[in-house]
Amino acid sequence: MALTITRTQYPKTKPQDYSKGFGNILTDHMFLMDYTEAEGWHDPRILPFGALALTPATMCFHYGQEIFEGMKAYRTEDGRLLLFRPMDHMRRLNHSCERICIPQVCEEELLDYLKELLKTDLDWIQDSNVDSIYIRPMIIATEPVFGARPAKDYTCMAMLTPGRPHIPKGPKPVRIYVEKEQARAVRGGTGTAKCAGNYASTFAAQAKAKAQGYTQVLWLDGAERRYVEEMGQMNIFFVIKGELITPDLSGTILDGITRRSLLAIAKDLGYQTVERRISIQEIMTAHADGTLQEAFGCGTGACIAPVGELTYGECHMNIGNGSIGTVTFTLFERLTQIQRGLVPDPYGWTM
Ligand code: COI
Repeated sequence: MALTITRTQYPKTKPQDYSKGFGNILTDHMFLMDYTEAEGWHDPRILPFGALALTPATMCFHYGQEIFEGMKAYRTEDGRLLLFRPMDHMRRLNHSCERICIPQVCEEELLDYLKELLKTDLDWIQDSNVDSIYIRPMIIATEPVFGARPAKDYTCMAMLTPGRPHIPKGPKPVRIYVEKEQARAVRGGTGTAKCAGNYASTFAAQAKAKAQGYTQVLWLDGAERRYVEEMGQMNIFFVIKGELITPDLSGTILDGITRRSLLAIAKDLGYQTVERRISIQEIMTAHADGTLQEAFGCGTGACIAPVGELTYGECHMNIGNGSIGTVTFTLFERLTQIQRGLVPDPYGWTM
């Protein structure tokens, strides 16, 4: 389908400080494409960033029929646009569509449109050494009738938010609270999809953790509250006796692209890696006997978030010495160098 591009007459002034940019600073343009039963996906277009007109009856407001993705792009020193594993993100977007009963998109076409959006706003990457652009594609049910059934009309859109998470010594460790009551997902639920409801349902626990001085929540499984699943909106890894352990894709956690990438990198760097169930009891035991060396969360947005403290009820576990651990830093550095095109990419992830 032919993409139309309408450029803004009023480009925004770019802020100097991108450090708090994630989701707050939005570039000049956005992408939109509509779906109707009669026409399928149609009218792909890039427009000046702006508001949508939707009636209060619009279906997505009532039942959360909405999915989204998040991927990152970089600009190399010689001006090339680099996207990190974009087709994996497109495939996951369609996986989410399938789960939430939203019509699938053509992955190749959508990616082409997103690349055009990025090229339109590539000058928002002011310093290619430190800046990145996070691309947020999403699809909402737009039928203006609030019957509880899959909608007939949808809009796919995408926007860009620049960020500058440049942390030469790696990100600082965070304090994490293990949630004992609420759960993020259950088997057969929507835990593997990036749908709005999965995130909204975590905010109450997150707010409770924040009120006690923690940064985020560690989620346990929905059935028994025994096994570790995710950390906030990220996947989680532990380093125990030199081995890198992450919960397996049990059908309740997100198949994170950063998670997958770190597993591959870690193997190639010679670390033992394992994807398996890991209980909070096993983590407490490893902490007690001194074999819990490192822990970190990972996701596209934050990349890597080292865990410095884990609290489960009355049990406070300090992990590491207050700065990022060696394994975590090694993985962080290797991944971000590949993402930015600073070292050859043996995996063919960047394009
Ligand atoms: C990401 O890490 O890309 C996510 O989608 C999580 C989001 C809450 C920032």
